[in-house]
Amino acid sequence: MRHLLTGFEFNQDEYLDILNTASEMKKNPLNFNEVLKGRSGAIMFEKPSLRTRTTFELAFYRLGGHGVYLDLQNGELGKRETIGDYARNLCRWVDCLVGRVYSQNTLEQLAQYGSVPVINALSDLYHPAQAMADYLTIKEHLGKLKGVNLAYLGDGNNVTNSLLVAGAILGINVSCFCPKGYGPDVQVFSKASENAAKNGCKLEVRDDIENIKNMDVLYTDTWVSMGDNTPLDMVKKRYMPYQINQNLVDKSGASLVMHCLPAHRNYEITDEVMDGPKSVVFDEAENRLHIHMALLAKLI
Ligand code: CP
Ligand code: NVA
Repeated sequence: MRHLLTGFEFNQDEYLDILNTASEMKKNPLNFNEVLKGRSGAIMFEKPSLRTRTTFELAFYRLGGHGVYLDLQNGELGKRETIGDYARNLCRWVDCLVGRVYSQNTLEQLAQYGSVPVINALSDLYHPAQAMADYLTIKEHLGKLKGVNLAYLGDGNNVTNSLLVAGAILGINVSCFCPKGYGPDVQVFSKASENAAKNGCKLEVRDDIENIKNMDVLYTDTWVSMGDNTPLDMVKKRYMPYQINQNLVDKSGASLVMHCLPAHRNYEITDEVMDGPKSVVFDEAENRLHIHMALLAKLI
């Protein structure tokens, strides 16, 4: 049995297999509509979602299975009964647990006490399915992955960590431009760097945004992640130099601009760029569906 908890679980061939399966499912969805016939999953969300929730539910449906949505936004997992008991109940009924949680530890516990695959749909540390959909989007637009130069700009967060993990395994050079003290998780970066060394690519964290050049892709995410109640305007000064605007796009040389969404327009990205010709943000959103189908098919 395999889980997707961090993104470190799969090797390069397995990543490519998931991406290729997703492409195939995107082209010929009807060929796969009985893959999960009679199978089901629990889709548990401690935090809000548009894209992830919709696409996991639809992925089950399109594969002939059923996803049961469990809204936990009024009560974190582990409050009404232990996470272990919660997992042991659910595993008597469903074939997979999909969880969006505050703490990575909650997913680890679900995997420990449950007996079915657990998929991370975003935690404090990772958003692995997002990174897979993003690399599928890059492959579609640039026709390759190995050697692509991707710059992540802004707050080093769960999305940044997952772009590093998956990027290192797929051979992408990932440069994180983040204010000092706001970079990606140090342990995740270090473990991902070991993979990068094996796969002939380079990861880096830097704050000299004024020197950005020779990039293929620019990527950003919110400056304040879910669970952090700091008003956006309070962090504006810190992150504004890292905003993706037309000047920065021109300077970087990038041909694609990405954002996992939801976006705060004219904070981390300007309207002009988000609605401009290089933006592929809605392709990323669409690809969440195809990647989730491929993941469910592979893991269940
Ligand atoms: N990108 C993403 O995960 O979006 P949602 O929070 O709407 O699911
Ligand atoms: N970093 C963001 C991603 C949202 C999809 C958050 O955790 O809120």
